[in-house]
Amino acid sequence: MARRLGRATSRFTEETQTCHKRIPAFAVWLCFCLVFPPAAEAGLYSPSDQIILLNPENVESVLANSTAAIVAEFYASWCGHCVAFSPVYKSLARDIKEWKPAVDLAAIDCAAQQNIKLCSAYSITGYPTLKFFHAYSKADSKGEAYKAFPRDVQGLRHRIIDKLENQEPWPPACPPLEPTSQAEIDSFFETNNVQHLALIFEKASSYIGREVTLDLLQFENVTVRRVLSTEQDLVTKLGVTEFPSCYLYYPKGNFTRLKVNIEARHFYSYALQRLPGVVRSGRPPLVHIDHPTNSTEEPWRPFNRSRVYMADLESTLHYSLRVELAAHSVIRGNALVSLKKYISVLTKYFPGRPVVMNLLRSVDSWLQNQSGGEITYEALRKILDNSAQSPDTALPEGVRWVGCQGSQPHLRRFPCGMWTLFHVLTVQAKSTSPRGTDPKEVLSAMRNYVRSFFGCRPCAEHFENMARESMVEVDSTSSAVLWLWSRHNRVNNRIAGALSEDPNFPKIQWPSPEMCSACHTVRDNREHKWNKEQVLPFLMSYFSSSRILTDYLEDESQVLAKQREAIAAQKHGERRAREALDSVTHLLPSQPTVQEEEEEEEDEGTQDETMADEEEEGGEGAPAADEMGGKTSEPTPWAKPEMELGRGRQRAHNRPSIVGMRMREPQEDIVDLDSFVNQHYKAKALRLAASSRVKQRTLQRKVEQEPGPVFGLGMEMDAGLGMVGLQPVEADFDLDVGRQRKRLQKRELIGQYYVEEAELSHRGRWMSVLSIGFSKVDISLCVILYCLSSMCLVAMYLFFKNRLRLRRAKVSLP
Ligand SMILES: Cc1cc2nc3c(=O)[nH]c(=O)nc-3n(C[C@H](O)[C@H](O)[C@H](O)COP(=O)(O)OP(=O)(O)OC[C@H]3O[C@@H](n4cnc5c(N)ncnc54)[C@H](O)[C@@H]3O)c2cc1C
Ligand SMILES: *[C@@H]1O[C@H](CO)[C@@H](O)[C@H](O)[C@H]1NC(C)=O
Ligand SMILES: *[C@@H]1O[C@H](CO)[C@@H](O)[C@H](O)[C@H]1NC(C)=O
Ligand SMILES: *[C@@H]1O[C@H](CO)[C@@H](O)[C@H](O)[C@H]1NC(C)=O
Ligand SMILES: *[C@@H]1O[C@H](CO)[C@@H](O)[C@H](O)[C@H]1NC(C)=O
Repeated sequence: MARRLGRATSRFTEETQTCHKRIPAFAVWLCFCLVFPPAAEAGLYSPSDQIILLNPENVESVLANSTAAIVAEFYASWCGHCVAFSPVYKSLARDIKEWKPAVDLAAIDCAAQQNIKLCSAYSITGYPTLKFFHAYSKADSKGEAYKAFPRDVQGLRHRIIDKLENQEPWPPACPPLEPTSQAEIDSFFETNNVQHLALIFEKASSYIGREVTLDLLQFENVTVRRVLSTEQDLVTKLGVTEFPSCYLYYPKGNFTRLKVNIEARHFYSYALQRLPGVVRSGRPPLVHIDHPTNSTEEPWRPFNRSRVYMADLESTLHYSLRVELAAHSVIRGNALVSLKKYISVLTKYFPGRPVVMNLLRSVDSWLQNQSGGEITYEALRKILDNSAQSPDTALPEGVRWVGCQGSQPHLRRFPCGMWTLFHVLTVQAKSTSPRGTDPKEVLSAMRNYVRSFFGCRPCAEHFENMARESMVEVDSTSSAVLWLWSRHNRVNNRIAGALSEDPNFPKIQWPSPEMCSACHTVRDNREHKWNKEQVLPFLMSYFSSSRILTDYLEDESQVLAKQREAIAAQKHGERRAREALDSVTHLLPSQPTVQEEEEEEEDEGTQDETMADEEEEGGEGAPAADEMGGKTSEPTPWAKPEMELGRGRQRAHNRPSIVGMRMREPQEDIVDLDSFVNQHYKAKALRLAASSRVKQRTLQRKVEQEPGPVFGLGMEMDAGLGMVGLQPVEADFDLDVGRQRKRLQKRELIGQYYVEEAELSHRGRWMSVLSIGFSKVDISLCVILYCLSSMCLVAMYLFFKNRLRLRRAKVSLP
């Protein structure tokens, strides 16, 4: 990931370079271009494919001295065979994702201008070429080319194993692949402190044993060895009659057969990874969640893991509409279109309680009536909170996660709810929408929502990549249900083992064989295959509205009562704040700075302005007194107007799951790399020698990772403000500088409300700067704008100079 991250940043520079070429035509364009690089992907692979994208900058660090063997594809994006091969290579990457510490995949587009030299340096003459670079390859190694390699995943996997077995030096993370013997097994538990020893009995020509060994290389407390059918001692001792078959072997010669539906690689790997005591290496030990946690924390709500809960869906709506959207003070353009679609799909298909449906309908009709190009969030918020007090209309405040509870506050929750919500919506659309409706209706709404608002930006980019790649294929509501299911599984595959994974809810290819054994089957070549005829009815039933459980839901009457109280408190608060404001303005006539900034936002109408000012008061008076981290299952104290007023912004500040995820995700492979230091494999001496290098490499990666911004300047600025993860998401990088600026100002204001006491002195300084009329952000923005405008000027100057020269040249021609 760190490597990919490096590549992503360099893509950013590449793209700004291509932008430079366009300068003469659109000088102003340059400015946008510099700030928001276009998301277009060159080449056949994207960073979502779990394939290292090679380029002249990273090639050395990836291929030379790597602790893992690397298989690299040299392709040309124009070559038809390469295009045809790319889906196979991508599936291969997903298929052997768990092998990464031992063998990783890379690809390079030799048709790209900047790579041409590099490809000729590797003596590439035809495309696609696959090359194997063994671990610790020299910088000048050209790799070994695979001659006439197979064009299917299984064949490629076998060829990779062949090379792995014959390579020297051995990658330190690669477990032994050779067959074991009775003698070795006898002494195994004396020298190894491992809970499970899995023996896969197979014919010599079978690769399953080696594949499963590699599939489990990132897991602790389990060791897998293959036993050949010719190993008579063991075969007779365990009474093995079927090949392949898998046995668990324990000290003192006890053994049991591993129970699986089908004797095939996928089923073995899945079952072994879920054995008791088996954990991903490098992960903290499992915390047992079934015991209730502290009273200060949210109480754990027991739930059935194979059910959908309405409490999660309502929490998701609350979080998405009241927290995620709140980051956008003004919603316009594509974002507004996305919002309208999202609400309209919810109104049509959300299987909610009557009060919630009434609320969704009122939001929907309000949005449909907004003919202007933009809306303010404050105005939307009034509808969400039912300020007009329509009867039986409410969206419960706060979140109560049930099926989406995480074992820690930063795990699961909202993104889990988001997936669940959209699975439910696609299923509802299939079962209720009349013929002739757009089969992609729900998926497009999801795609737009994710693109415009979903706070986890890397997630949004990956999701957009998937949507761009294959959403066109959806041609029925059934295929929409299946599309979302299979893309969700792709995400599960990609992030399995990442730090954002809850150890108690490991990412699996879902549904598991336990949940739906009929969903899993194998092809003729014994490769795992989903039985879609079974998966579809399973999904239809699992996410059907009639099976959604209503446990832990707040009573409707309670919800409505709370809403009434909240509105009353708000009115009262407004009045009080207006009075307070009046007295303050009387005392301090020179207080206009804050108001000015607010005015500069958008003209939010007089009412909203007072609201904003009140929030100011509330924020000053009672910072952070409200619910923390979205833990609102406890009845919220509504009475205090100050708290009520600070709430909107407070929420925006507390976005736990996303913050956690964004910060952690890039480290996913670093964990993997560290982990193999702990493993006890083949040549110990070699491992010792290697470990220093591994560490060196890991360190190097951590440093590499630091610059971090995959998403360009927007995020860098954000990080500068120390608010990573709060990045309000704008419709696909189409922000203009002015809006960015306003957002930053607003954020600076928000930041000001919630500084902790330790930072009070800092705030004091900020205030003093403010009183002169400039904030630090103002100043740095000035500098940025100044730089941008001078670049624009240079660009225009060059453009006109060029034109003049051309004209002169023409004129001087006879
Ligand atoms: C659009 C989107 C993109 C994301 N992209 C990323 C990303 O790039 N990187 C990242 O780190 N995180 C990403 N996330 C977050 C990540 O997918 C998980 O949501 C999060 O890690 C919480 O995981 P979870 O264990 O709660 O299970 P989730 O994956 O959130 O799944 C929730 C529940 O849905 C069910 N489920 C699981 N798989 C399927 C399936 N295939 N079909 C139907 N139901 C299923 C299970 O019951 C599961 O508990 C993304 C989330 C969303 C909504
Ligand atoms: C690879 O390792 C060798 C010896 O360990 C060292 O001399 C060389 O500089 C390393 N190369 C790279 C690219 O790190
Ligand atoms: C491995 O298994 C042993 C024995 O059950 C257990 O004590 C240990 O905690 C397990 N290791 C991990 C990392 O869970
Ligand atoms: C309760 O919380 C405190 C502090 O957060 C912690 O030290 C303690 O171990 C927790 N107790 C339990 C039973 O989780
Ligand atoms: C959970 O739900 C499944 C499916 O409805 C059911 O078969 C199972 O018994 C439930 N488990 C518990 C513990 O209630």
